[in-house]
Amino acid sequence: MAVDLGSRTTKAVHVARRGQGFALCGYTLLDAPIYEKNLPPDLLSEHLKTVHQILRSRTRHVCLTVGANEAQVRHAELPNMPVKDMRQVLKLNSKSYLQQDLSGHVFDCHPCAPARANQTNNKASAPAGLAKQKVLVAAARQQFVDDFSQGIKGAGLIAACITPALLGPVNAFEKVMPELFEVGTVALVDLGFKNSSICLLRDGELLLSRVVAIGGDRMTADLAENLGISYAEAEGIKIGMPQEVQTQLEALLLPLGRELRASIDFFEHQQDQAVSLAFVTGGPAQSEFIMETLQREIMIDCKLIKPTSFLQLELPPQQAVEIEQVAPQLTVALGAALAAL
Ligand SMILES: Nc1ncnc2c1ncn2[C@@H]1O[C@H](COP(=O)(O)OP(=O)(O)OP(=O)(O)O)[C@@H](O)[C@H]1O
Ligand SMILES: [Mg+2]
Repeated sequence: MAVDLGSRTTKAVHVARRGQGFALCGYTLLDAPIYEKNLPPDLLSEHLKTVHQILRSRTRHVCLTVGANEAQVRHAELPNMPVKDMRQVLKLNSKSYLQQDLSGHVFDCHPCAPARANQTNNKASAPAGLAKQKVLVAAARQQFVDDFSQGIKGAGLIAACITPALLGPVNAFEKVMPELFEVGTVALVDLGFKNSSICLLRDGELLLSRVVAIGGDRMTADLAENLGISYAEAEGIKIGMPQEVQTQLEALLLPLGRELRASIDFFEHQQDQAVSLAFVTGGPAQSEFIMETLQREIMIDCKLIKPTSFLQLELPPQQAVEIEQVAPQLTVALGAALAAL
């Protein structure tokens, strides 16, 4: 079971191994218990119990995502050593390796693919212990991870993994389009409630990621203010008849488009490599209007990802009908499930 604790909507999926592949056995979307603050462990336990009941899954293993405000994802150059030692090194020296004091944090590390390939060369040419490798680092406050662990235990579940939500689309994309993942340059854009993120990948490696503090919430709140209507009414218009408020919505998407475009420009300049394709996920991506507007703003082809395409579908009948529509919003949860499997 993987639960993407979004700031507005919790997305949960039940994924099972089937031979070499995977099956999607169920999913659910429900309101997050609190929008503004972190969940205290007892509330998280209650929420996870509810999710577990709705999914009717027999598994007790759960993977949780940590949102962009709580999890940091960085690159670092670390000496060649086992991952468990890297974690310790970062704990003691976060400032020298990450240029930021992250005391009180816990770390996880993933050696980047090309560095893995170089490792043998490094070993041959450099004295042992001096060779460095490029590592993707995830960090979160120890207290936050402890609270998550306690929340999981309190629900009678077992923590399989806790993973940054930012990486969900990357893990899902690797399975959905393995060829393009291995060889190619793409942007993965996740539109959320409080935040949106962009990950730039080249040849199987995540090279750049950015989080922009603009999402569906800001669109609705600004629309409500501009039109002098309630938040709920504005939300209804945004989802049901966006073309009625086309000019306003376009203006509201402009700052987000600009930020995303700036990240793409930066990447193109740094890597001397053009980006011509973006795959977009998250709740707002379900809106054709938003997709078209975003595409105009960031000036590259924007496509929806079909994150279930590598899965056997073993869904209850009603869910089987609706999966097509909600799939983009489940991408982070599906990617998190893959991280655990
Ligand atoms: N059809 C739709 N058209 C436009 N917006 C939509 C549609 N469906 C959902 N949304 C918006 O999607 C947002 C929620 O998306 P999502 O579930 O991806 O966010 P989240 O994961 O909870 O947030 P975050 O990633 O910032 O923590 C809401 O703001 C909602 O208004
Ligand atoms: Mg999200």
